[in-house]
Amino acid sequence: MKIGILTSGGDAPGMNAAIRAVTFAAINKGFEVFAIYDGYKGMVNGNIKKLTKNDVDEIINRGGTIIRSARLPEFKELEVRKKAVEQLKKHDIDAIVVIGGDGSYMGAKKLEELGIKCVGLPGTIDNDISSTDFTIGFDTSLNTIVEEIEKIKDTGRSHSRCMLVEVMGNHCDDLALYSAIATGADLVISKNHMISNEDTVKRLNKMKENGQIFSLVVVAEKTIDTNKLLQDIQENTDWDARLTILGHTQRGGIPSAMEKVLATKMGYYAVKLLSQNITGVCVGIKENKIVYEDILDALKKETLVSNELVEVIDNLN
Ligand code: ADP
Ligand code: F6P
Repeated sequence: MKIGILTSGGDAPGMNAAIRAVTFAAINKGFEVFAIYDGYKGMVNGNIKKLTKNDVDEIINRGGTIIRSARLPEFKELEVRKKAVEQLKKHDIDAIVVIGGDGSYMGAKKLEELGIKCVGLPGTIDNDISSTDFTIGFDTSLNTIVEEIEKIKDTGRSHSRCMLVEVMGNHCDDLALYSAIATGADLVISKNHMISNEDTVKRLNKMKENGQIFSLVVVAEKTIDTNKLLQDIQENTDWDARLTILGHTQRGGIPSAMEKVLATKMGYYAVKLLSQNITGVCVGIKENKIVYEDILDALKKETLVSNELVEVIDNLN
């Protein structure tokens, strides 16, 4: 078997560890592995190169993805996908491992309809894929956020300020909820834990009345306008407030040890599934067990909100 591997959508720490695991596992089984550069864009353009163990041996510790990632909206068009399949055929590639999110999974499933076997691995910092408890990238990103927030707390406390921090997550609450708990934030605002600006102002005023000298508010991106919240706090409370939007630092860096283990287990498992002729599925971890599920079934399900986390937050703040 000849397996193509690509990373697609937003990059995530741990993608390289997964690439390495797929390459090692496949070569050990007597298969060949091909890097498809720049996601589906490289597949359509034929930017494809055979990988050796040497190419990937030293990448387990590297953030980002050595085969790069991209977004190609045109991949939704059948004609574009047919061009991609022609390129795969030129290299006799009959199976692919796609590391990405829901959109990338959909692209893979549609290639399956054109005769290409596929397995998806969940690669995104957002943790927004229903078929897994944890995605490759989430743990590292969470650790980065927590490290950054601790620095923000140092300066915020020194100046008796209210610090607002906006974190990524793309409509998924997890990075905000987990980081809020891990940093002991006073408030968290996310899709399933909405607090109006008015209410936030009231709560911050209460904290001031109670003699609190520092406050921390974590906000999930794409939920509220954080600049407007900053203005409301400045105008309606005695807090001197500052806003930090963490941005793309959250996507980079050395993957955590847990990330490397997760990505390596999943990469190995993807090759195992393909060698058993199991295709059209995505790999996940559920209750600490590696599992797989049909991509279409996975895409139909909503990502579960962690009610447990919400309960903890509501009862501690
Ligand atoms: P993610 O994989 O992280 O969800 P995107 O939604 O940006 O990221 O999807 C990544 C890529 O997957 C897109 O740029 C596109 O090339 C491909 N893709 C997304 N949705 C589809 C679809 N419905 N059909 C075919 N390809 C798709
Ligand atoms: O999906 C990962 C993610 O980092 C989201 O958290 C964020 O909303 C988005 O990608 C940012 O995308 P871009 O790299 O296009 O700025």
